[in-house]
Amino acid sequence: MSRLVVVSNRVALATDTKARAGGLAVALQDALMEKGGVWFGWSGKVATKPPDKPTLTKVGKVTYATLDLTRKHYSEYYNGFANRTLWPLFHYRLDLTAFSRQTSHGYMQVNAIFAEALKFLLKRNDLIWVHDYHLIPMARILRKKGARQPMGFFLHTPFPAMEILVALPQHRDLVEALCEYDLIGFQTANDVRAFLDYVVHEAGGSILGDHIIEVFGRTIRVEIFPIGIDTDALVQAGLEATRGAQSRMLRKHPGDRIWITGVDRLDYSKGIVKKFHSFERFLEKYPAYRGNVTLMQIAPPSRSEVPEYREIRHRLEAESGHINGRFAEFDWVPINYLNKSYTRLELAAFFRTSRIGLVTPLRDGMNLVAKEYVATQNPHDPGVLVLSRFAGAARELHAALTVNPFDYDAVAIAILQGLEMHLEERIERWEAMMEKLRTNTLSIWRDNFLEALGQAPYG
Ligand code: F6P
Repeated sequence: MSRLVVVSNRVALATDTKARAGGLAVALQDALMEKGGVWFGWSGKVATKPPDKPTLTKVGKVTYATLDLTRKHYSEYYNGFANRTLWPLFHYRLDLTAFSRQTSHGYMQVNAIFAEALKFLLKRNDLIWVHDYHLIPMARILRKKGARQPMGFFLHTPFPAMEILVALPQHRDLVEALCEYDLIGFQTANDVRAFLDYVVHEAGGSILGDHIIEVFGRTIRVEIFPIGIDTDALVQAGLEATRGAQSRMLRKHPGDRIWITGVDRLDYSKGIVKKFHSFERFLEKYPAYRGNVTLMQIAPPSRSEVPEYREIRHRLEAESGHINGRFAEFDWVPINYLNKSYTRLELAAFFRTSRIGLVTPLRDGMNLVAKEYVATQNPHDPGVLVLSRFAGAARELHAALTVNPFDYDAVAIAILQGLEMHLEERIERWEAMMEKLRTNTLSIWRDNFLEALGQAPYG
């Protein structure tokens, strides 16, 4: 059996219970424990001088290998090219995309340092699985250093339409580097379409069929692997949550309080400002609901050294303050805006007590919160998922109330529809969504990807 080598910007050590709570970490760790292998990436730390070799921590058959970043590299690679250039670009936000030769250089340097350190940990029969936009050039650098192992890449974010991507001065170099992987996995058919559009119309490649393409002189496989959740664990969390303090507290809130919940990392791609405007529109249009419906928006701060993230944080504080100032009464606030993180069990309690899960990103690779909201519901009295058509999850969860988050009136109407939906319809929609969540779990996603990668090379 091949060993597995996982490469990602963040590494979840088996001992790090907070990171493990993320689901993906558990799924990857389970595969690593079974096959044995290495999880390689950034330590999450900024050091004063460049590290000469990775820190190795061995837990059973798994070696965690992490590298610190210097302040300069942290700023150019993580805060710079990854999160001020690729992230906004991949989320269709050209208006927020920074174009800088210097950060692009820092990004390449970090990828080269990572590849050099990883090279010494590789064995001949390894399967190498690289995650996300931070580390696209890894395969190309490793190949130049002589690595022959099958290499797969999974993009957790959207892949942008060709016309957006070509605005990046280094677009060709980036896509050429991406095509050094044997297998490229995307979240949705939309992302695959955008990628193939670039391959055919910009790079002069061709589609051979059966997921195989030829481009830049290589034969590679391109496929959709929509990421799932650990459905059983979330169903269990939903059950346990009913006994938790949060759930008891929410249920005994004065007056028949109805909760609508949103949980999003504090990121402009999540559309939280527009969500607040839509909720404001709902309160304007349907005044009977004032005083008894509260939007609980949980938004843990993220990437706070990036200026656009500091800006969105101020904006949200102002918008929630404005809406609360406009509508609040002495015993009710319309928006309960919480700038912090909660445990998985606490979130499950919030989800289960909420009549609506309001998930309205402007663009999102998948959005696992949407899936988690569904899985934690009470099967006999489930809530309603209101879901942006721009989340990858909307491609699977057809029974959600799908909305366009740019259309405040439509979101307001969907909120009303969710609040007034009869039990029978709620159950019917919930069951249809659970069917999807049971047939495409996180471990099925992982196994499908690894099985496809195990068949490389494809030429
Ligand atoms: O989903 C995209 C992603 O960048 C993941 O790779 C990452 O774990 C998550 O968002 C959180 O971002 P960050 O690692 O920058 O805190």
